[in-house]
Order: sequence, then structure tokens, then C-alpha cells
Amino acid sequence: MNFSGVQHALIAAVGCAAVVFFSASASAAGNAERGKTKSVSCQACHGPTGNSENAAFPKLAGQYRDYLVHALTAYTTGERSNAIMQGMAAPLSEQDREDLAAWYASQEGLETLEGQR
Ligand code: HEC
Repeated sequence: MNFSGVQHALIAAVGCAAVVFFSASASAAGNAERGKTKSVSCQACHGPTGNSENAAFPKLAGQYRDYLVHALTAYTTGERSNAIMQGMAAPLSEQDREDLAAWYASQEGLETLEGQR
């Protein structure tokens, strides 16, 4: 899978808007341990802790929790279009998305400002 710079910029822009939007709204608390259990089907591509070593699969570890929830929700609504992830996200409940996001956000990986907010 090969992404152009434009697509990356677009995805980044959508992501930033998502963080701002979701920071303002309260959502059900995710549980990282439950998320770990639910992440088994994600590991083949994103790695056991979300630190994918394949550039085709984004790193999820250490990503903002609300960004992850938004991304997963966007695949289910079709706002974000990707054949693989729309298929993976479709069966997830809101609680599943929250739990998975809590799990990946709690893993060491990407450096975000999460702890400083
Ligand atoms: C068959 C491989 C595959 C599997 C399995 C898979 N993903 Fe993905 N995932 C991808 C690819 C490819 C992308 C990038 C898609 C895009 O460009 O939107 C992605 C993107 C994502 C993103 C957005 C990341 C970002 O930085 O915006 C999230 C969140 C995500 N996946 C979560 C999951 C979760 C949770 C599961 C398990 C329920 C899962 N994925 C299973 C391949 C996979």
C-alpha cells in the first residue's frame, strides 16, 4: 500500500479535527485490559501492542485515545474509506472502540502530549 503526501496531510488534518471535537465531548470510558483481549484480530497487521513494523499498517501504540475512537468510528460511518479497516471496524460496538482505543493509547509507541493535557 502506497500513500501520497496529500493523503497523509488529509488524514492528519482529519485527525486533528477529531481530537478537538472529541476532547470536548464526554464518552464512555474504555478499559485497556478488555481492549487487549479484543485486539487479537488486529495484531496480524498492527502488531501485538500496536507497534506495527510494516509501514503499510499505521502504528496505534501511544496514539491519542480519542483519535483512535474517532478513526474507528469514521470507518464504520464511511467518513473514512478503507476496504480493510471498514471491514474490521464494522462489527465493533461503541464499547469495543473505547476499549481498543484505551489499550493502544496505553502502550508505548508514538509520543503524544496525552500526559500533559
Ligand atoms: C488486514 C490488516 C489490518 C487489520 C487486521 C486491522 N487493521 Fe487497522 N489498519 C490497517 C490499514 C491498512 C490501515 C490504514 C487505513 C487507512 O489508510 O485509512 C489501518 C488503520 C487503522 C486505524 C487508523 C490509524 C490512524 O493512524 O489513523 C486504526 C485506529 C486501526 N487501524 C485500528 C484497528 C483495530 C482496532 C483493528 C482490530 C479490530 C485493526 N485495525 C485491524 C490494517 C489492518
